[in-house]
Amino acid sequence: MKLIGLSFLASLAVTSVAAQTGGSIIDHGLPDDLNGSNFTYPFPLKLYKFTSQRQQLEMAFMDVAPTGTPNNKTAILFHGNFFCGAAWNETIHVLAHTGYRVVVPDHIGYCKSTKPTHYQFSLAQLATNARGLLNTLGVGNVTVMGHSFGGMLTFRYGLMFPGSIDEIVVVNAIGMEDYVGKGVPWIPIEESYATSRESTFASVQAYENTTYYVGLWEDRYDEWVQMVVDVFFGSKRDAFCWNQAQIVDVVLNQPIAHDFARLQPRLLLMIGEKDTTAIGKTWAPPDVAATLANFTALAHDVSAQVPNCTLVTFPELGHAPHISNPDIFHAALVEWLTTGTTNSTIETR
Ligand SMILES: *[C@@H]1O[C@H](CO)[C@@H](O)[C@H](O)[C@H]1NC(C)=O
Ligand SMILES: *[C@@H]1O[C@H](CO)[C@@H](O)[C@H](O)[C@H]1NC(C)=O
Ligand SMILES: *[C@@H]1O[C@H](CO)[C@@H](O)[C@H](O)[C@H]1NC(C)=O
Ligand SMILES: *[C@@H]1O[C@H](CO)[C@@H](O)[C@H](O)[C@H]1NC(C)=O
Ligand SMILES: *[C@@H]1O[C@H](CO)[C@@H](O)[C@H](O)[C@H]1NC(C)=O
Ligand SMILES: *[C@@H]1O[C@H](CO)[C@@H](O)[C@H](O)[C@H]1NC(C)=O
Ligand SMILES: *[C@@H]1O[C@H](CO)[C@@H](O)[C@H](O)[C@H]1NC(C)=O
Ligand SMILES: *[C@@H]1O[C@H](CO)[C@@H](O)[C@H](O)[C@H]1NC(C)=O
Ligand SMILES: *[C@@H]1O[C@H](CO)[C@@H](O)[C@H](O)[C@H]1NC(C)=O
Repeated sequence: MKLIGLSFLASLAVTSVAAQTGGSIIDHGLPDDLNGSNFTYPFPLKLYKFTSQRQQLEMAFMDVAPTGTPNNKTAILFHGNFFCGAAWNETIHVLAHTGYRVVVPDHIGYCKSTKPTHYQFSLAQLATNARGLLNTLGVGNVTVMGHSFGGMLTFRYGLMFPGSIDEIVVVNAIGMEDYVGKGVPWIPIEESYATSRESTFASVQAYENTTYYVGLWEDRYDEWVQMVVDVFFGSKRDAFCWNQAQIVDVVLNQPIAHDFARLQPRLLLMIGEKDTTAIGKTWAPPDVAATLANFTALAHDVSAQVPNCTLVTFPELGHAPHISNPDIFHAALVEWLTTGTTNSTIETR
């Protein structure tokens, strides 16, 4: 048993090195409508071309140089579902000003990246794709930051690549609880796909209004709805809806909630407490749904488990504190990144 496990791991290591170093970068001549998204990004786009699971994939990314005095560090930002790298705009500006080089990919399956029809999506695969991009760019250590689904991915990335991480920042991650473990029924990908196909500007806006922005809609949020609706109705509509459904499957089947105690990098956990996001809340039995998405409780649970965690909470904000209140959010972020602490800290371990 043990031997098989070891040789399996050894061959996995060889494969993953190949997957991580086999890419190339295209930095010119990209069309506006890139793999099903014609949304205009705030910084120039490049493509990372690589082979994964026997197919050629392209991951679109922005690579922004420091605008302030360089601190010789690189940050990589992972966007959430219903978002693309572009929605990190404010954070990119702030981090570049702080001295970071900022790399911002669109995950495979999203936005301006390839939407493969046959791909085994996993958090570990998406993390490996990101590490491959960094290797191809010649980047060693990184600060990893992720929001929502990108926060769940950041946790996985932190478990997989602790040796090349300066620190991690997680913003209102999904998956801080094990949805299926708590009683959410698993649903087939076909079912999520049917739901995904029903998305419209109005439905995305209504969803984000409640969960992201606590019912306080501002016109400036329209842009980020338009960004994802553009993909829902773009030239890769069908593949995108399918990939969205596959991501639901990833979230249900690949919990990270049991692994927080093993997380080695230091973590800044930033939580809008009025968030109500939980995958499966809409189809779970009411008594199960009632136990989900208590972000006040989840924030304290996770922070108590992670060996080196600073928790910052925003009591009045929802799922996207970096967008709803960028000023207080980024002040706390930069303070922690540059001094290792922040006034907003309510709990440091
Ligand atoms: C993604 O876009 C790039 C650039 O236009 C293109 O080369 C590539 O073929 C596209 N990928 C797919 C799967 O269509
Ligand atoms: C993207 O495509 C949509 C639908 O064709 C169009 O309304 C919109 O103006 C396009 N946006 C850009 C930035 O090209
Ligand atoms: C960054 O690297 C440059 C060139 O090696 C060096 O001059 C500078 O002092 C470094 N800055 C920091 C903050 O480490
Ligand atoms: C990005 O942020 C900058 C600086 O805050 C702002 O001027 C610009 O309009 C923003 N762009 C987008 C696409 O939101
Ligand atoms: C990279 O990160 C690892 C893990 O945090 C740390 O041990 C190592 O010293 C870092 N390397 C550099 C060059 O900063
Ligand atoms: C957002 O939700 C609030 C509270 O339910 C509602 O009054 C408002 O009309 C909604 N705005 C949008 C744009 O959906
Ligand atoms: C959420 O958790 C907190 C802290 O554990 C608790 O005080 C509160 O009652 C919970 N809220 C709900 C709605 O269950
Ligand atoms: C947490 O990480 C910081 C930065 O690496 C370090 O200074 C501090 O001692 C660590 N705290 C614990 C409890 O490990
Ligand atoms: C933290 O407190 C110091 C001293 O009062 C102040 O200068 C700094 O701006 C505060 N930081 C934040 C993020 O509010």
